[in-house]
Amino acid sequence: MEGFVDIHHHLIYGMDDGAQTWEQTRQMLTSAWKNGIDRIIATPHAEPGMEPFPMEQLTRRIQKAQSWCDEQRMQMEILPGCEIFYTPQTVCMLREGLIPTLAGSNYVLVEFLPGAPYSELIGAAKTLTAVGYQPIFAHIERYRCLRWPGRVQLLRERYGVSMQMNVDTICRRHSFFSQRWVNSMLRKGYIDVAATDAHNVTSRPCRMRDGYQALQKRFGQEMADRLCIEFPGQI
Ligand SMILES: [Fe+2]
Repeated sequence: MEGFVDIHHHLIYGMDDGAQTWEQTRQMLTSAWKNGIDRIIATPHAEPGMEPFPMEQLTRRIQKAQSWCDEQRMQMEILPGCEIFYTPQTVCMLREGLIPTLAGSNYVLVEFLPGAPYSELIGAAKTLTAVGYQPIFAHIERYRCLRWPGRVQLLRERYGVSMQMNVDTICRRHSFFSQRWVNSMLRKGYIDVAATDAHNVTSRPCRMRDGYQALQKRFGQEMADRLCIEFPGQI
């Protein structure tokens, strides 16, 4: 197995639009395992200030999934996290422990509406980093305001934001932006981590190995390892 680490995965059932049943969670675990993943951060959607986040349910269901993997002799580690839809209540809820960071680290996975203004992304980055969190912006290929590469560079270099791209985008399955933009982001080294954002085993499955191989072929071994193993592994 390759030892990929997936930091964005909706495998815990009954928490969002990802897995709906325990059976689907098991199918997703099996699929992740077959894709060479051995660590997953479970990231159900969280909407601070809009919906209470069921922390205990997440903990219990992760334990159940972990026990099942252990029984199946799948050497897989499942860790808690969430994908935060950024709102003004985000920092407050993080500090009170009402929503999880990624695997207990300072990293937080944050998403926005596709049409969110650039000022909102900057504001989120400033607010989060000011209190010690390290933001990772989820699937940055979705935000129209990041069509200009200089903005991605500024968010990374001045505001300390890490950038996540979905493996489906890397595999050219679909993207909100052109493939040219996707390639330039990767070539410039603006992408820190590739993740599956898997929601099920049908329409939005886990394609980590395809993503890794596409990176390897088009951008080289070093980048493939950095995006799929090294950066996510240090979280
Ligand atoms: Fe997601």
